Amino acid sequence: MPAKYDAQIATQIINNFGAKPELLVQILHAFIERYSYISEEAVRQIAYELNISRADVHGVVSFYHDFRTTPPGNRVVKICQAESCQAMGSRELTAYAEKTLGVAMNQTRDDGEVTLEPVYCLGNCACSPAVMIDNKVYGRVDTGRFADLLEKHGGA
Ligand code: FES
Repeated sequence: MPAKYDAQIATQIINNFGAKPELLVQILHAFIERYSYISEEAVRQIAYELNISRADVHGVVSFYHDFRTTPPGNRVVKICQAESCQAMGSRELTAYAEKTLGVAMNQTRDDGEVTLEPVYCLGNCACSPAVMIDNKVYGRVDTGRFADLLEKHGGA
């Protein structure tokens, strides 16, 4: 469960980076680490404290795939979509994952149990295709192994 938003802690996070607009990406990463997503409240506060526009913050948030803007499900499944993994079947794996989990890429299932997200290289290219489930990276994941991993992480 993501931590509840707290404006004072948010200020502390921003101040840890000297409230410098040029460190916006690092600040957003720190927010993601704490809150798991960038809420509208966070965008407003970051913009205000860095003295930049909300559009500036939104621009950076939407540019990076890592910055989700809605709360994730209880489990987060990421499938690498970068070149090496694509060459080794990540598209087919993605189609299988969408079907098995009952959720489309970039979405959280209605029951809030699982979020399926793309990721662009997990640094595991030698063992493509790679997936990350609840922050743990797995390599050489075919559909059978994916099903096993899901079982290990609480089922589909
Ligand atoms: S391309 Fe998928 S782990 Fe590098």
